[in-house]
Amino acid sequence: MQRGQFTSKFGFIMAAAGAAVGLGNVWGFPTQVASNGGGAFVLIYLFLSFCLAYPALMAELIVGRYARANAVIALPMLTKKPWLKNAGKAVGIAGLLTVAVILSFYAIIAGWLFSFSLAPIVKVTGAIDTSLWLTDFSLSRNITFTVIFMLATIMIISAGVSNGIERWSKRMMPALVAILVLLICYMFTLPGAMTGLKHYLVPDFSLVFETNIIISAMGQAFFSLSLGVGCMLIYGSYLSSKENIVTVGIWVTVIDVGLAFLAGLLIIPAMYVAAHYGVEIFDAKGDLKDSDVLIFTVLPALFEQMGAMGQVVSLAFFALMSLAALTSTISLLEVPVAYVVESYQVPRKKASWIIGALITLMSLTIVFNFEWLFGLVIMITTQYSQPVLGLFFCVFAGWVWHRDQALSEIKKGDEHASSSLFWKIWPWYVRYVCPLFIIIMFVHALTN
Ligand code: TRP
Repeated sequence: MQRGQFTSKFGFIMAAAGAAVGLGNVWGFPTQVASNGGGAFVLIYLFLSFCLAYPALMAELIVGRYARANAVIALPMLTKKPWLKNAGKAVGIAGLLTVAVILSFYAIIAGWLFSFSLAPIVKVTGAIDTSLWLTDFSLSRNITFTVIFMLATIMIISAGVSNGIERWSKRMMPALVAILVLLICYMFTLPGAMTGLKHYLVPDFSLVFETNIIISAMGQAFFSLSLGVGCMLIYGSYLSSKENIVTVGIWVTVIDVGLAFLAGLLIIPAMYVAAHYGVEIFDAKGDLKDSDVLIFTVLPALFEQMGAMGQVVSLAFFALMSLAALTSTISLLEVPVAYVVESYQVPRKKASWIIGALITLMSLTIVFNFEWLFGLVIMITTQYSQPVLGLFFCVFAGWVWHRDQALSEIKKGDEHASSSLFWKIWPWYVRYVCPLFIIIMFVHALTN
């Protein structure tokens, strides 16, 4: 069977950046900025993305391209020792399970975004009841839109790597940037925006060494670059050997961080504009409101204030969020699908529908038990599974794998790799610095 591959460097970068850019950037990052001291958080996040998350991303991309397989097959290939092979397999499988759970909660939130983007259109047609149904929290609305979003994801994934993932990412990513820039320009013309901009861009240096802020920024960087579950490893496995993997990785990081930065540029000022219009953005204690409240109540309230223009902005904003979420859900579904296709020779289409259906069932289980299950699965997967697995990926790339093999893999797309700055730093970095940082993050999460 012919293995899927991205057809161009641009296609790969768009797809991998599309996997990275999602709710984590457009929703998670701005709200973390808002609740973690504004500019100081931005500064630390930028630092950690390049100095910690980028090296970890490279570990996944290089191993993936070397093995040309999913993590369950790839990690055992890095060693000859049977017990380490088994450990690698276990890490790969734990990653698969984590990814399935992440997708099952992600699809619910993505469904909300999509239903919110339809609301203004429905409103224009005069169907007020339906538009209220779209924006009110209800079992029927949640079920409908979770299923719709999963169906869209399954259809793209069943079409394969170049026809599905690459083709859609190439369309969606540039559209995303365009909508974002337009919205930012518009937002800047509104009263209050400049106060928000200042909060966003001027760091309070006394907060820069605050442990909590550093830990949050680190978690944000890992989630945002989709690390620790073999997702980027799969994307690396579809990258052509001709490409310079080091620069490709930099592009993906720059785009991911850049989009988070742009999203912050929109949302932080938007909050202050909302405050100017009299929307409550601070709670009784004077802290900023929670993230879900922020996006699903504060922003719609703001759009409401803006009259007819507000409906257009609302449509653009939520359509943008839905697109960002879709390029991420396809990357999430690709992980288990690639595993079943490669390890059990199941046709891609069949694998996509079966696994997609199973994950949809998981999603619906969360929808039906929303009160206690939703927050719980988010906490377990993002705060515990991801950091622990991320640690194992770095250990496999840094300690288990032979350095020479890593080097010869990088050399395929860059003859001078052995004398590059990247090669002087990375092997050592991924061995000591990345695991140590992740351990600190994990210990901190456990002790708090
Ligand atoms: N990084 C994406 C975001 O910021 C979400 C995502 C996609 C992800 N694939 C992943 C997170 C794999 C963890 C693991 O929204």
